[in-house]
This record gives sequence, C-alpha cells and structure tokens, in this order.
Amino acid sequence: MPETVEIFEMGPRDGLQNEKRLIPAAEKIALVDLLSQAGFRRIEVTSFVSPKWVPQMGDAAQVMAGIARRPGVSYAVLTPNMKGYAAAKSARASEVAIFASASEGFSKANLNATIAESLERFTPVADAARADGIPLRGYVSVVTDCPFDGPTPPANVARVAAALRGMGCYEVSLGDTIGQGRPESIDAMLSAVLDELPPERLAGHYHDTAGRALENIDASLARGLRVFDAAVGGLGGCPYAPGAKGNVATEAVAAHLAAAGYATGLDMDMIERAAAMARAMREDEDV
Ligand code: HMG
Ligand code: MG
Repeated sequence: MPETVEIFEMGPRDGLQNEKRLIPAAEKIALVDLLSQAGFRRIEVTSFVSPKWVPQMGDAAQVMAGIARRPGVSYAVLTPNMKGYAAAKSARASEVAIFASASEGFSKANLNATIAESLERFTPVADAARADGIPLRGYVSVVTDCPFDGPTPPANVARVAAALRGMGCYEVSLGDTIGQGRPESIDAMLSAVLDELPPERLAGHYHDTAGRALENIDASLARGLRVFDAAVGGLGGCPYAPGAKGNVATEAVAAHLAAAGYATGLDMDMIERAAAMARAMREDEDV
C-alpha cells in the first residue's frame, strides 16, 4: 500500500484572491463544485475578511451558499476576527482558519496589527470555534522570507506556531508566502517548528515564485510532513505580499507525489479540468 499524502486545495481562496477582475460568484461556485468531485478531503473556498482589504472575497457568503456540498469534504474559510467568524458560522463553514505572520512587517501589511495584537484578536475566534465544535486551522506566513523584514528567523516561526497550537489549531500550515524558500531554509525552519509540533500537525504551504516549491515539498516530506496546500492552475498570490506568485499548482504536486510513490486519492482528469477552468478565469482578465 503506498503511503498517502494529502493535498489541501487552495484554488478558490488563495488562487483567486489576488485576481484583479472581480470574478462572478457563479464562476467560483462552478470551480468549487468541480473540485468537490476530484477527491479532495479539504477545499478552502473563500475568506470572510474585510472587503475593503480583499474585494475579490467580498462575495464569500454568496459563494458558500451556492456550492453543492459533497459529504466527507470539509469546506474551509479564513476568519481574521470575530466579524469574519460570525459570518463564516452563518455560512455553515465546515472549518475556519486564523492566519498569523512570523514577521512584524507582513503582520502589519496583511492584518493591520502587530503579531501580538493579531494573536489577541484570534483568541475569541478560537474560543468560539471550540465552543461551536468547528475545527480550527492556523497559518503562519513568511516562514522563511518576508518582503518587508528580510529572512525570517526559524525561532519566530516556532513561537507563532506554538501560539496557534495553544489556541487549539488542529493543524498549522507553514506559508512560504513569497516563494523565496529553499530546501535548506525550509529544513532549518522545520527543525525549529518540529520542537513545538509533531509533523502530523503541520502542513506545507509553498508559493512557487522562484520555482522551488516542489523541492521544498521534498525537504518537508523528508521531515515527515504529509499535508501540502496547493492551488489548481498554480493561480494566486497574496495582495499584501509584493511579488508573491501563486501557490504551487495542485496538478504539479499530485504528479510529483505520484512519481515519488505516494497516493493522493485525486482524480487527475478532474484536476486537469479544474486547472483549465481556473486558468480560464485568469485569462479572461488578461484580454
Ligand atoms: P482593519 O482595517 O484594521 O479593521 O483591518 P477594522 O476592524 O478597523 O475594520 C475596517 C472595516 O472592515 C470596517 O468596515 C469593518 O466592519 C470591516 P467599516 O466600518 O469601515 O465600513 N471588517 C470586515 N468586514 C467583513 N468581514 C470581516 C471584517 N473585519 C472588518 N471579517 C482586518 C483588519 C483584519 C479586517 C484586515 O486587515 C483584513 O481583512 N485582512 C485580511 C487580509 C487578507 O485576507 N489577506 C490574504 C489572506 S492571508 C494569505 O493569503 C496568506 C496565506 O495564504 C498563507 C501564506 O501564503 O503565507 C493564508
Ligand atoms: Mg498563501
């Protein structure tokens, strides 16, 4: 039996959040519905963030209301504060995620808060999610390099990951937000984080700006990680991380893992169809 590695599909959220053209909710719903048939256990659908900050995600409630939910699939959303959490709960999100930064510069740019202030803001979200029985995931951004503060000390990532664990995150996803990580810097970062959390509670979230995401996944597999975030079509980027390109493409990760002998449980034809749909959404913008 081949060992399983899970891909957590990010396309509808991380993939689309940076697109300039306001993509109609119906197109986003069609993408999620296609992804629901591809074998993912978890799909990040949207973000309940301020529409002033990320206009593309302003239709979060509409998208959540329109998707056809497949039993066994968890439909995840980002929730930066209680306002976002309340909306996510009303929209029947299967799970929610809080997202922190390992650098002060990116925390300010992305959340308008210091790291400490952001963690304070997440505490009531975590408490409410626990009380409501909604699983909570956590992100740490800029785990190797920050566009504002330069290289990120691994100890800073470990500290924030530990704080998210302390709030009850069942898994912490480690974001190379601007895709400048290298296998060596990823390994050094993981070495510090693994002092706080076992590999079963970590995920790799690597953007592919410099084309090294697959190597960084290999470095993470060697450290025992078995969950990776990816976006069909390789779309995306973070509006508050200058120069950030998309998440590593789901289809590339799935093929890479298959070649290395891992099972992902994904239907590759369906993934290719979803990737084509996602790319067409971007191409529409270019014309
Ligand atoms: P702020 O401006 O300090 O917040 O932003 P505020 O509380 O002063 O609110 C400003 C306005 O936004 C108010 O509206 C609020 O009501 C509204 P007004 O009174 O002016 O009309 N507002 C909201 N509306 C809807 N839903 C909400 C919400 N919250 C406030 N939840 C805030 C602080 C955190 C809200 C803002 O900075 C924000 O929304 N940031 C999110 C940025 C974002 O989504 N970034 C991309 C996702 S993270 C990412 O991509 C990285 C990741 O992929 C991992 C990696 O790659 O590293 C996860
Ligand atoms: Mg990201």
